[in-house]
Amino acid sequence: EKGGYDYFMLKEIAEQPKAVADTLLGRVDDAGRLSLDELRIPPEEVREVDKVVIVACGTAFHAGMIAKYAVEHWTRVPCEVELASEFRYRDPILGPRALVIAVSQSGETMDTLMALRHAREQGSKVLAICNTNGATIPRESDAVLYTHAGPEVAVASTKAFLTQLVACYLVALYLGQVRGTRSSDDIREQVRELSRSADGVERVLSTMEPVRELARSLASHDTVLFLGRHVGYPVALEGALKLKELAYMHAEGFAAGELKHGPIALIEEGVPVVVVVPSPRGGSVLHDKIVSNIQEIRARGARTVVVAEEGDEAVVPYADHLIRVPVTPPLLQPLVATVPLQVFACELATARGNEVDQPRNLAKSVTVE
Ligand code: M6R
Repeated sequence: EKGGYDYFMLKEIAEQPKAVADTLLGRVDDAGRLSLDELRIPPEEVREVDKVVIVACGTAFHAGMIAKYAVEHWTRVPCEVELASEFRYRDPILGPRALVIAVSQSGETMDTLMALRHAREQGSKVLAICNTNGATIPRESDAVLYTHAGPEVAVASTKAFLTQLVACYLVALYLGQVRGTRSSDDIREQVRELSRSADGVERVLSTMEPVRELARSLASHDTVLFLGRHVGYPVALEGALKLKELAYMHAEGFAAGELKHGPIALIEEGVPVVVVVPSPRGGSVLHDKIVSNIQEIRARGARTVVVAEEGDEAVVPYADHLIRVPVTPPLLQPLVATVPLQVFACELATARGNEVDQPRNLAKSVTVE
């Protein structure tokens, strides 16, 4: 049932283009209108929403962090993202005009479930983004948008993450549609870009041999650091989480802009640093800033592993290892940039002799608080 792969994780990584495409299937009509028919919250109520609050754990939380950039950019509605385990213990400000989005692959994560119950008690509407039909979280929510990743067996989440991103982008566009901040042309174009990113994932998957080789060469290291900015920041966190859970290595993700506020002290000779570089197109200020960061850490001995868009030549002189990802709109880059980090973690785990699908101390769904 592993379809010829050694591990479920490898199979699930390979299934990502299909998972993304399936999650997009039939969402937009010819007129460019999104119809998220599982999203049973009346448009009048969606128009009244004055804040979006996303609650989730682990990888799903990283999807939520990325969603915040899209929700605020596309809809101008303030969006908060919070670890579900922290949420209800701090008396969050909710009420009927807050839309709470609970993101969960399994739909059974206890912390996320308790957060959504708390939100509903405070009178907020809850939308679940979930991969498991009929699970507790969607059952207890007001509305649900299912991701169509198919069953995810490996403990480390891969294809579910990519489809959570797709679902979050769709919800953000839907909010923009209902509230009139996005035109139907724009929505159609964004959905087209989302579909193209499925091909982008396919392309990335076909170029992973050097990433595997690199991973094997790092098997005896103790630490790997990850840097990113904008939507690349949660991608860095996700890359680090994958490495922790699979390779049992000390892995940390940082916002690149924070380097000088502390983390740069960790840089020493030979420490591998994976940097997720934003697109240089449109003269992006962030791109230039991150190129300076790469220079700074390299000057201090870091071994730089640079994940950069095809055609980004500015990074070439400073990359000890260069991983190319296809050009996407800046907000959608996580769909392609996460994939090499999954492959990297999986290969490192294998090289270290770890159990890839069942890492130590972890369970696929965490049903206790
Ligand atoms: O089923 P959920 O999406 O609610 O699970 C949340 C986390 O437990 C999960 O993403 C966990 O972090 C994964 N093992 C990460 O690979």
